[in-house]
Amino acid sequence: MNKAKRQAVIAGNWKMNKTPSETKALIEEMKPLLANADCGVVLCVPFIDVAAAVEAAQGSNIKIGAENVHFKESGAYTGEISAAMLKEAGVEYVVVGHSERRTYFGETDQTVNLRTLAALNAGLKTIICVGETLEQRELGYTENLLKFQTKMALTNVTEEQLKNVIIAYEPVWAIGTGVTATADQADEGNGYVRAAIAEAYGADVAETVTVQYGGSMNAGNCDELLSKVNVDGGLIGGASLKAVDFSKIVEAASK
Ligand code: PGA
Repeated sequence: MNKAKRQAVIAGNWKMNKTPSETKALIEEMKPLLANADCGVVLCVPFIDVAAAVEAAQGSNIKIGAENVHFKESGAYTGEISAAMLKEAGVEYVVVGHSERRTYFGETDQTVNLRTLAALNAGLKTIICVGETLEQRELGYTENLLKFQTKMALTNVTEEQLKNVIIAYEPVWAIGTGVTATADQADEGNGYVRAAIAEAYGADVAETVTVQYGGSMNAGNCDELLSKVNVDGGLIGGASLKAVDFSKIVEAASK
């Protein structure tokens, strides 16, 4: 295992929070705090906030992401947003398959795969989320499930395209609950994801893929989580809405 082969990336996932004017204000507050980051810094924001976020982040080291993307290029899909639309708006990253989309909006491993392909084909960097529920963990399915979700999401993704893929291991029971996976559980889950990538693309390739942990990561627990060999960064919900907390996580990943 060699962390030096991969870039640490800290990505905020704002979920359904912040209006465009609030977006501008929060990014202005964050910019000086994040300026010395020695890791990738991404803020994934609601579609309506993208324009304000791209403008506010201009000239800084903050990259802007979206929280979802549709899998078709265009057409009769009322309310949806295509990869080309995001790209033209200045979006560089997109989150695909977040557990909230899987739980509340009928997202399946198949649609996660289609969205991933659409995003990659448009040249967007894609943060694919995988993770088990508490029930699945207690039944002992975590390893199989994480490997299955990872491989399904990456179906037909080429080795070249994989360079634009980040996988975020997010145990569903740890998201927004304040219950963080222990550093060892995070490392183990991320390890299963990396093993699945190794099975599909070979061990050398798997060593280069950034695998984040997500689920109640905050300024207090980030050091320990990020010290683990398989944890190459984080996908941060609640703590990404607070400039100081988020900057502390970025600082920890920059060490
Ligand atoms: P949380 O969310 O940090 O608020 O738990 C993480 C996520 O859902 O990506």
